[in-house]
Amino acid sequence: MIVETERLILRPFRESDAADVFEYLAQPAVTCFECMKLDSPEAAREEMIRRAGDAEYYFAMELKETGKVIGEIFGFPESGDPHGNADAPADTFSPCGMLNEAYQSKGYAFEATRAFYDYLFREKGARRIYTYVEDYNVSSQRLCEKMGMRREGLFMEFISFVNNPDGTPKYENTMQYAILKKEWEERELSAAGI
Ligand SMILES: CC(C)(COP(=O)(O)OP(=O)(O)OC[C@H]1O[C@@H](n2cnc3c(N)ncnc32)[C@H](O)[C@@H]1OP(=O)(O)O)[C@@H](O)C(=O)NCCC(=O)NCCS
Repeated sequence: MIVETERLILRPFRESDAADVFEYLAQPAVTCFECMKLDSPEAAREEMIRRAGDAEYYFAMELKETGKVIGEIFGFPESGDPHGNADAPADTFSPCGMLNEAYQSKGYAFEATRAFYDYLFREKGARRIYTYVEDYNVSSQRLCEKMGMRREGLFMEFISFVNNPDGTPKYENTMQYAILKKEWEERELSAAGI
């Protein structure tokens, strides 16, 4: 699947994206992506081969102007009902994304996220999209607000991705933002002046 925006192409990863992805995943910008850290260009190449198998839910953000991969966005279907059985519809998504630092604050994240949410709502059966954001991650909170998401809660000491220097878990305070398909559609209609 390919999703096009004004300045970007969202597309499945290819092995040849390894060097571009290594630029931003050799040192992930936030602790929640620590588990995605790539230790070498070879590890990046192996990761690209693994990702290339997913053409529906894991997209590279390619800059149209140069062909460079400047970031990524992904989100997979899950059951929205934590108590549901195996037949519960997988109509809920929790997308994550990140940009190479050199390309932040240029509106690319907003452009890609808007296109990805639209794709999930229109083509992949999304009913609800939610996302977790740490309380110190102001740029990500701002992005959620620009997407029209509601802040649904703040979970204190919710999760730990890394340890403190003394080896104890470093717990983070995590916000949850969400938007429903009907809220998304209303927003899109009003943006189009309808
Ligand atoms: C979160 C993240 C993806 C946001 O990226 P970003 O580049 O800051 O977000 P945006 O695309 O919305 O761009 C923001 C700024 O670009 C500028 N901008 C917006 N549109 C623009 C355009 N068309 N042309 C030029 N500049 C533009 C504006 O100054 C805007 O700031 P504003 O929203 O206050 O007006 C990025 O900070 C990141 O990768 N962080 C590390 C990973 C991370 O935290 N991921 C989320 C985990 S929950």
